[in-house]
Amino acid sequence: MRMINNLVGLVGGTPLYEITSYPLREGIRLFAKLEFMNVGGSIKDRLGFYLLQQAFENKKINKGDTIIEATAGNTGIGLALAAIHYQLEVIFVTPKKFSIEKQTLMKALGAKVINTPTELGMKEAIKVAEEMEQRIPHSYIPNQFANDWNPDTYYHTLGPEVWNDVDGQIDIFVAGAGSGGTFTGTARYLKEQNPLIKTMIVEPEGSILSGGKQKPHKTEGIGMEFLPDFIDEHLFDEIYTIPDEQAFLRLKEVAKQEGLLVGSSSGAALEASLQVAHKAKAGTNIVTVFPDSSERYLSTGIYDN
Ligand SMILES: Cc1ncc(COP(=O)(O)O)c(C=O)c1O
Repeated sequence: MRMINNLVGLVGGTPLYEITSYPLREGIRLFAKLEFMNVGGSIKDRLGFYLLQQAFENKKINKGDTIIEATAGNTGIGLALAAIHYQLEVIFVTPKKFSIEKQTLMKALGAKVINTPTELGMKEAIKVAEEMEQRIPHSYIPNQFANDWNPDTYYHTLGPEVWNDVDGQIDIFVAGAGSGGTFTGTARYLKEQNPLIKTMIVEPEGSILSGGKQKPHKTEGIGMEFLPDFIDEHLFDEIYTIPDEQAFLRLKEVAKQEGLLVGSSSGAALEASLQVAHKAKAGTNIVTVFPDSSERYLSTGIYDN
């Protein structure tokens, strides 16, 4: 009998799935880490548990304290799950534009959700969270955008998993960046194992990584308004800037062709990976990440034409 009796056992250890429906040249293989298989449905469950575990171990919080965080939703769901495990209260500040499903799920897990105006972006949500921390006793902001434990999460979890899943046979890693934690931690781990591994970062059009001007985009979960201090640009072997239309086209394709119901950041990661594959030499193994599922975006018309 295989029994799991706490939430920690339902985070990580996700399948690495080979994408086979696209014709790739000469033994090039493409794999995706299926992060929607985490208990809260996204890659951010890893972050929620790691951040709060570290906060306890480093005596920043105690049982019963209040966690406050600015989040687009998936981090909130991950933190809300971890807060159940560690017996904490949670309040999230979320710009209004983010999907209603994610906000509903955060509330279902016991969180209070406060909305900030869409047009003021994540910066305003962070400001409001900081003001609340001043007012609420025994409160703590993990602040995924300025916390080295964010990339550390993936350095200690996703990085080793990817490496072990392919027995070290990886040539190129491709991942989207919202805070940049996933990319930074995983890329650092992989390059430490083998400095020849190339690590490609993915952003939507409207994100600032490749010097473009910040503007709104529909691809949800990735895209940077500023560069957190933990970002190490030496890890950017290439930057892929993917228009929304391409990301949404790919997520529809991958549903029909592979049976994978993934969100738009996965669509962008797939498009970038296919561009990488197009240029790669024979026998290259490419690994990417599908951060979450399309089911939390149905209200946004994710599958509409
Ligand atoms: C759907 C989705 N994809 C990708 C990411 C990117 O993760 P990171 O913040 O580690 O860059 C996020 C982050 O919230 C996300 O929600």
